[in-house]
Amino acid sequence: MCGIVGYAGHEPAAPFLLEGLQRLEYRGYDSAGIAVFSDKVRTVKSKGRLADLRAKVDAAGGVPGCLGIGHTRWATHGAPNDINSHPHTSMSGHITVVHNGIIENYIPLKEELEAQGVVFRSETDTEVVAQLFDKLYNGDLVGTLIEVIGRIRGSYALGILCTDYPDTLLAVRKDSPMIVGLGEHENYIASDIPAVLDHTRSYYLLNDNEIAVIKAESVELLDLNRQPISHEVFTVNYDISAAEKGGYDYFMMKEIKEQPNALRTCIGSRIHDNEIRLDKLRLTDEQIKNIGRIHIVACGSAWHAGIVGKYVIEELTRIPVEVDLASEFRYRRPILARNDLCIAISQSGETADTLAALREARANDVHVLSIVNAVGSSIARESDDVLYTMAGPEIAVATTKGYTTQLAVLYLIALKFGKIRGILSDAEESRLRTALEALPDQLEQLFADEAALEALARQHAEKDHVFVIGRGIDYGASLESSLKLKEISYIHSEAYAAGELKHGTISLIEEGTLVIAVATQEALYEKLISNVKEVKARGAYVVAIVKEGSRDVEGVADQVFYIPDTADIFTSTLTVVPMQIFAYYTAIARGCDVDKPRNLAKSVTVE
Ligand code: AGP
Repeated sequence: MCGIVGYAGHEPAAPFLLEGLQRLEYRGYDSAGIAVFSDKVRTVKSKGRLADLRAKVDAAGGVPGCLGIGHTRWATHGAPNDINSHPHTSMSGHITVVHNGIIENYIPLKEELEAQGVVFRSETDTEVVAQLFDKLYNGDLVGTLIEVIGRIRGSYALGILCTDYPDTLLAVRKDSPMIVGLGEHENYIASDIPAVLDHTRSYYLLNDNEIAVIKAESVELLDLNRQPISHEVFTVNYDISAAEKGGYDYFMMKEIKEQPNALRTCIGSRIHDNEIRLDKLRLTDEQIKNIGRIHIVACGSAWHAGIVGKYVIEELTRIPVEVDLASEFRYRRPILARNDLCIAISQSGETADTLAALREARANDVHVLSIVNAVGSSIARESDDVLYTMAGPEIAVATTKGYTTQLAVLYLIALKFGKIRGILSDAEESRLRTALEALPDQLEQLFADEAALEALARQHAEKDHVFVIGRGIDYGASLESSLKLKEISYIHSEAYAAGELKHGTISLIEEGTLVIAVATQEALYEKLISNVKEVKARGAYVVAIVKEGSRDVEGVADQVFYIPDTADIFTSTLTVVPMQIFAYYTAIARGCDVDKPRNLAKSVTVE
């Protein structure tokens, strides 16, 4: 969603800000702006892409100054236009603000300020912060910020400039990410590490209600009582090339191709001497033996990973698993017991609903184990335990390696817990562990089908509807495959449990309807082939995704893609890959922006 970047140093701020915003583009936005302070604050804002903002900055002959803030906005309050873009400046011109999140009580605050004669220019909730700050301002920058924090409700990461402090950038966060980057004779703020990754690998990760006072030569961290806070310096071990396209046209294809290595790291680093070691979990073996129920909470693709995880965990541990959409879980008063375990899954680690769901679980004394990609993110930090997926930065809005590494961590959990609880014999655990270790190489083999999938995509690019059907775990994987297609190609696509087709959906099948049938589960294979015959009889064009050596499918489906043989419970890691590639080429054939699909944001930090 929205992105923030800020600079305090001795070099021109504007080029830094524009470059940083470019690195945050993947979060999704519909307008952008920068404000730079020299003799006064100059602000340039534009609806549309960053290229539009750059053009305006160039037309203005640049924006002078070595202190500045920038923002990419994903509209929530007010249309995406120049006026509503950030930064927002108070009526007097004293205070300029960029903001991620939502100020929930902005309407009463706005009314109060208007009654005092303040004239608002935009429709945004953010402008309230700038105007309120200015109204309360008494020369004490930090003191005023603390007062403002006491008045606003909601979620916020704020970057603030004040004309009385020509060398100071102020930042604070609550329920929205904000980091402080530590440079040489310059320091930065950003909502996300990639924004400043080519300038520093050292950061302070701000916690809620922590204030950062940033100058070129110093960074001071304070709590709401103005007491200094000491923070460990957080260092990342990947460089900017991991967050760049590396010769690919789109990040999505780069990330699809990174999956074998991502899985090697994620799985390989947790298997030593034929034993799965799940990092340093606080959860003890005794607690694992006593788990009554597992609640998986997540959104979107992470929720899809959770659905597959339910099948695998229940199969290997016999612990009942409920999978909730985080946005539903947080408001449905879930029934939680102290010996339950909550697993929160999130690539970004910043998804607002997932964060709220984990807080709900913790408020009920339920241990939270999170599966997260973004190191140091809010979900990771607020969980009792975290298992990182180690996929590296994922930039494309449509997740690929994020999802398959989430599955890998769920498999590791299922195997480990199954062994600890005595459900899995040593022999069975060893067989499955070996199968798990083979997945990265097997996934790599699937890339051999890229040309055939591209041709298939071109053949069906003009279709209006696609159905993806499967049973059991294949149904779980179908949900993710279907989402990949719809989110980037804008083709209406639905995943269906194949046994459910006859209860309504089959009426939508007509001559030429594309049906992708995923059939990898030995026990359900015959039944799925029968479902394929049913849709074929009604004119569907069927593409089957099956395991190598599957019987009878060539004569039934119009086209078949084979995945290497693996344990039935692990097939989702492989079946989703042809669909990622198919979705990618379908989007290309339809002229869509693969990495930045319309209306979507990479990190959904508002509910
Ligand atoms: C995936 O392709 C989506 N764009 C989206 O569904 C995503 O998985 C969801 O928003 C959850 O994000 P998270 O994993 O960062 O929490």
